[in-house]
Formats: sequence, C-alpha cells, structure tokens
Amino acid sequence: MAIPEEIINEIKYKNDIEQVISPYVTLKRRGKNLVGLCPFHGEKTPSFTVYPENGSFYCFGCGVGGDVFTFTKLIENLDYIEAIKLLAEKSGIAIPENGYDDSYSKLKERIYEINRETARFYHEYLMSPDGKWALDYLVDRGLSVSTIKHFGLGAAPNSWDSLINHLKSKGFSVDDMVSANVVGKTSRGTYYDRFKRRIMFPVINIRGKVIAFSGRKMPDDTSDTGKYVNTSDTPVYKKSENLFGMNFAKNHCDERIILVEGNMDVVSLHQAGFQNAVAALGTSFTTEQANMIFRYTKEIVLALDADAAGQKAVKRAGEILKNTGIEVRVIVIPDGKDPDEYIKKNGKDRFDALLNGAVSEIEYKLLTAVKDVDVESDDGKVQYLNKAVEIIANEKDIITRDLYLSRLSDKYGVSKNALKTRVDEIMKKNERTVKKKEISEIIRPKFDSSDINPERFKYPTAAAAEELVITILLQHPDFFLQVKEDLPPEKFITVFNKRIYTEIYNCLYGDNDINLSYFGELLDTKEFSFLVSLANNEKVRKSPLIVLKDSISVILAENDRKNMSDVSSLSNEDWAANIQKMIENKQKGKQ
Ligand code: UTP
Ligand code: MN
Repeated sequence: MAIPEEIINEIKYKNDIEQVISPYVTLKRRGKNLVGLCPFHGEKTPSFTVYPENGSFYCFGCGVGGDVFTFTKLIENLDYIEAIKLLAEKSGIAIPENGYDDSYSKLKERIYEINRETARFYHEYLMSPDGKWALDYLVDRGLSVSTIKHFGLGAAPNSWDSLINHLKSKGFSVDDMVSANVVGKTSRGTYYDRFKRRIMFPVINIRGKVIAFSGRKMPDDTSDTGKYVNTSDTPVYKKSENLFGMNFAKNHCDERIILVEGNMDVVSLHQAGFQNAVAALGTSFTTEQANMIFRYTKEIVLALDADAAGQKAVKRAGEILKNTGIEVRVIVIPDGKDPDEYIKKNGKDRFDALLNGAVSEIEYKLLTAVKDVDVESDDGKVQYLNKAVEIIANEKDIITRDLYLSRLSDKYGVSKNALKTRVDEIMKKNERTVKKKEISEIIRPKFDSSDINPERFKYPTAAAAEELVITILLQHPDFFLQVKEDLPPEKFITVFNKRIYTEIYNCLYGDNDINLSYFGELLDTKEFSFLVSLANNEKVRKSPLIVLKDSISVILAENDRKNMSDVSSLSNEDWAANIQKMIENKQKGKQ
C-alpha cells in the first residue's frame, strides 16, 4: 500500500525544490530555472537544472532527474519511503502508520539499532577490565582515551557467541543480526559472532549512524584469518559508497580532504588535528566515493602508502578524480611509511610540512618515474624522457603541459620542440581510448532512453510523437480535450509510453491535477528521470497546440501503418479471418 496521495502532495508543497536542493548544490538563476554543478556526478560546467515551475530537476550531464523525493532519496542514500518520511518530518507532517508497506525500511531501522547496540557493546567491553588486552594495544599504538571514545573504537571478545547473547538479551532476532552482518550463519545452521578477538572500528555515515564495522586482528593472533574482517554490503551499507572518517571530515574539509589507506591512519591523523582525513573501506577508490568527496570539498590530497600498491592506488584515484574538477595533490611519505607511522615518529608539524609540500599529480608521477632510471647516462635520460612525455601528454591543461615541457627541456638539454612533437603524437593516439574510458568509467553513463523504451528502435516516429504528446500534456493539462476523443491510450504504440500516457489520461479524465510526483512511486529512477526530461522539454513551448495536433495525426497514421505491416506478416488464413473481422466491426459501427 502506498502513502496516500494527498499526503505526498502536501509534503511536496511544503518542501520547495529550491530549498531542498540548495544546501547541497550552489544554484544560480538562469531564466526561470536554476542551474548548478551536479551532485551526482563530477562535472566542471553546470548541467544540473532545477525547474521550480513543476518541482523537478534534471542533469543533462548524467541524465538523472526527479522531484524532491527522488533528490532526497539519491543524495541521502535512502529508499523512496524513507525519503518521503524525512521530508515529512522536516515539515512537521505526520504520515499515518500502516498506510503503506514499509517492511524494508523497518528492517533497515532494526539493522541501524543492532549496529548501534553492537558498537556500544564492543566499546564498553574495550573499556572494561576484561578488555584490557585491547586497550593496552591501542594505547601502545599511541591513541589517547579521548580519541578512542571520539571514534567509538571497541574490541570483540575472544568468543563465538558473546555478541549474539548480548543482542538477544536486548530483544533482537538472530535473523536480523545476520542481516546486519555482525553474526554469521554456518552451513549447518548454527550462528557465530563474526568478529572474534579483534579491535573494532565502527563505520559511521555522514548522518551519524553506525552502518558497518572493520575488525583488526591482534598482532599475536595466529589464526588463519584476514588482517581485517569487514562488514559486507547490507541493506544499510555499501562499501563502495562510504568512506571511513567522513562523518567527522565533512565538517573540516573546506580546504581539502586527505585520503589515506587505513582506518588507523585516519584515527591517528584526527588525533594529531587533521580531522579532514578519510579512508576507502578496504576497496580501491571508487567513482561513488569521488562523487561524495566532490560534494564537500574542492581539493583532495592523496596520502597513500609509498609502496607499489600505493602508487597504483594514486594512479587509479587520479583517473577517477580527473573529471570531477577536484584538485588532486599527492604527498610522498618518506621511507615508505604510512601516515600513522610517520606522524608518530616525526610529529604533526612534519606531517603538516608534507601536506604543504604536496605536489600536483603530474609532478608526483614525474618524480616517481625518475626514481626508476639512471638519468646520468644517456640511455637512462632517453628512457626517462620517454616516460615523462607520456605523463605530460596525459595532462589536460595546455599551460601546465607547456610549463613542464620547458622544465624538462632546460633540465635535460633537449629541444622543447622535439618534446612537444612527441607529446602531440601521444595525445592524438590517446584521444580515442581516453574518450571511451571517460564515458564508460569516469562519468556515469547518461541514461539511454532506448534502454527505458526499447521499442523506440522499432517505431522511432511513433515513439517521438508519443513523447511530444506526453510533454505537452504535462506542460498544458488543459489541452486534454484535444486528445480525449481522438487519442485514447490504446493508440499508443510503444509499451512504455503507453503506460505513462494511460496514467496521465486517466488522471485528467477523472478531472484530477497532473503532478509529476505521482509517478515517483510507479517508475524506477531511470524511468522517472526520463519522464522528467520530457516534462521539461523546452522545444515545444512555442506552439504546443500545433505540435500536439501534428503528433496526434502522426500517431494515428503510425497505427494504420503498423496494422498494415502486421497484416503483411500474417498467413493467408489469418489474413482472411482478419479481413472478415474488420468488415464485421465496420458493420457493427454503423448499426
Ligand atoms: P593496512 O594493511 O595498511 O592496515 O591496510 P592499517 O590500516 O595501516 O593497519 P595497521 O596500521 O597495520 O594496524 C589498509 C586498509 O586496507 C583494508 C583496511 O581497511 C585497512 O585499514 N584492509 C587491509 C582490509 O580490508 N583487509 C585486509 O585484510 C587488509
Ligand atoms: Mn598502518
């Protein structure tokens, strides 16, 4: 059961789209609409458009669109009903209980509660006499008790069932514990605590909720288990969309965010006063994580381990961040140490100096490349310059390229012209592959409408006309009289458009207002985005009535054409039967 429509309308009415979106996106007025940088994909020029007129938004860059509910759902990572609830709460509207199916959001709520209770259990255990072994370890690693409390660090006892028993005593079901992934189930159907004798890092999202755990093995633990055990994806957690420490960093990152590899690095940096440090949660850096960072800051400093894996990670993060417009800089930590070790040994001022001396990504790559060869020899020099031109060719900014070409030319006594020729060659070669990669990997692909309406290929003319009719009715519901008789829904040829049109038709037939949000629940995000793009089509604004009339004739003509071609594929008998039917229908019509 759905939430009553009047309530949805009331919530929408009280949550003006401009006000809902503006905390997340800086909007500038453009005509009657507003534009800004899309918060859902990285971009440098604004293609995210807000339409106050019908309470919708649409991004021409990534194709995502919707209304206040969709926006809240996507930006806060909620499901549809949770988004409605959140906006209802904000505007003081009560939603009647049991008015809708909310079993999934109820499950999510129980998982949040289990996570919170689990974090509390592990933290209390750590601070209790029994947890001394773990507290000693953390203090030994230089953490203060206040840091431990700030992060809510904990420890899992050396037992297979202490968490299960604790959560049972609090009234939680074992099934829900398994859904939260704090408890595992064996193939024999028995249950066990997933974290056993481990240091526990709760993962807290930007809204302050515990969503997952990362459990570090003790150094003396010889069991055949991984160094870290992490929560897998659950209804409340997606590894690839979260960052450890982001709950704190989001308030301290006006200037920049520092990306490190490990949880311990984050904790250690925070303790030293760098509250803008975050870590990817045991995954390599993802587009979703880049997009989250992009929402909060304009610069990211990569402080990844100096080993080969770290260099690879820098490269990957750089690729992903390249198109977001976030400035990327890199810290090279001396002696292959991670930030935690470095800061412990050298203090926070030295780390601050590293931070201030962070180099641009291109400089970092040039520095790393020079390490591998002997530039004193001619051979080595050539080898290095070949690598260097490759690196420079990857730089987008022509001035930056020119600057580094001049430097290389001066330093190694090679003509700048020769270097530039090589760079141009490489750039040409790269252009095609880079473009492909950017589109498929870095920018989320724009929703392809043929994906939403696959029949668009088969009936392109009909589909285009159908879309125009939908656009015009959404913009001018008063034109319904034009289609009421002449264009009943069954005349629509493509199934997806027919589905939309039927809803609109029935709505207007019943003298109801047409409201985009009505479709929010009927359609998935892609479909809804597409509909919003139709609703905001500007092309028909000039002479809608003429376009509507033309579109109706096109659809009717396409119907005839379709019937003809359907007929041509019939067998002789079917064809005869068909003709017979048509004649009968005609006679019926005359009577
Ligand atoms: P590290 O091995 O660098 O650990 O892994 P660390 O965080 O510096 O921990 P300490 O200093 O040895 O105590 C970096 C990150 O990679 C993930 C974790 O998120 C870890 O913080 N990781 C590592 C895993 O998820 N699983 C593993 O088995 C190892
Ligand atoms: Mn470490």
